[in-house]
This record gives sequence, C-alpha cells and structure tokens, in this order.
Amino acid sequence: RDDLPLAGRRVVITAGGTKEAIDPVRYLTNRSSGKMGYALAEAALAAGADVTLVAASKRPCSPAIRLVLAPSAKAMLAAVKKAMVGADAFIAAAAVSDFALAKPFDQKVKKTSPDAHLTLDLVQNPDILKTVGQQKQPGQVVVGFAAETENLLENAKKKLTSKGADLIVANDVLAPQAGFDKDSNQVTLVRADQAPVTVGPESKLAVAKKIIQELVRLLDQA
Ligand code: C5P
Repeated sequence: RDDLPLAGRRVVITAGGTKEAIDPVRYLTNRSSGKMGYALAEAALAAGADVTLVAASKRPCSPAIRLVLAPSAKAMLAAVKKAMVGADAFIAAAAVSDFALAKPFDQKVKKTSPDAHLTLDLVQNPDILKTVGQQKQPGQVVVGFAAETENLLENAKKKLTSKGADLIVANDVLAPQAGFDKDSNQVTLVRADQAPVTVGPESKLAVAKKIIQELVRLLDQA
C-alpha cells in the first residue's frame, strides 16, 4: 500500500545520548536528547514498519513502538545485535559515547583532601553503526548520522565508506535551528550515488518523515 510503504518491514533505530557509569550514582553523558531518534521511530511506525527503538533514555512514545532501554554503548550494541536479526533496516540516531570507564567504581567515589586529583581511565566504546554496517546482510539498509561542526559534507561522505552505511544524515550541530535538544532540525542527506539533499529547517518529526521516505527508496533498491 502506498500510504504504508514500510508495511512488513522491520526497522531498528537507536536514540539518545548514552550514559557510561562512573560509579553507582554517576555517569558520563552528552547533550543529545534522543528527540531525533524518537521522531524517526514515530515516522517509521506511521509508514507501517515494525519498529524497535533502542534508546538510552525514556521519553513518551507510541505504545506500538517496541522500546528497549539500553543506557550504555555496550548495552546498546547488545540490544541492537539482537534486534537486527531478520531486520530490514538500521538507523543509528544515538549519540554514542566514544569512551567508557575501563572499570567503573563499585562504590560511590568519595572526596578526599581538597587538592586531591581524581583520574578516570577511559577506553574506547564499540562503534555500533560500524559493527552493523560491516555485518550488513543482502537487502538490509543502514543509515547513520554525522554530527559535525565543520567540513560537514566531506566528513559525511567519509562516513558512508568507513561505517558501511547507505545513507548518512549530516547534521550541522552549530546551525541555529539544528542540533541537540532542539525541536527543529536541518540536515543534509548524503548518499554515494546522488547529490546531497538539504532538509529543513523544520520540526524533527517533519525531518524524520523525509529521512524515512529516503529509507523507503533505499529499501526498494536494495
Ligand atoms: O563516528 P561518529 O560518532 O562521528 O559517527 C556518528 C554515527 O555513528 C552516528 O550514526 C552514531 O549513532 C554512530 N555511532 C555508533 N556507535 C558509536 C559511535 C557512533 O553507532 N560508538
């Protein structure tokens, strides 16, 4: 059906800024709100897809969306791998922390003397998008994001190859109506075989609908 172009399709989406534990009460995170990932989940659902949203934090969403909470990058990767079995598409909208503590503290870290330093030992997190891109099955479509503050298109094109993605949604996070925790966004859709297309500025839901339209085209070609 034309009005439900994703009927029968399974789509997996990540959302939000991951939280990496420091100790039982503290974590490292970033400025991402998860709004873009949640908007993509609603747009995919409205297009008829079966949607699994792997999110670092909870926000209101349609009950028909299968919401899997996965706060850390490692938890997100495990949930995504599971959800991707038999899925048609993956959209990596999460702002995944590049680093996590090598070993989170078992107990709350206490203050000691006023001039004492605390050093956190960070190790790199797995790259979820790259992992999925490299394990992509025939017919599957992989979409990534590129949040940049400079050389937007150049960096986005590099990511198509390095991440094994079919589409990169390039996000100039310094643009006035785009980026973290805003309700509007402006992005550029970057594909290997086509000229870049700018979308917005408009609401994150309107931008999400256009990204889903592009996903429909990619799935039809895959
Ligand atoms: O490498 P960079 O973080 O700039 O790439 C951004 C894209 O990669 C986003 O789609 C983001 O969701 C994804 N990503 C990921 N896992 C990471 C880092 C980034 O899925 N550890």
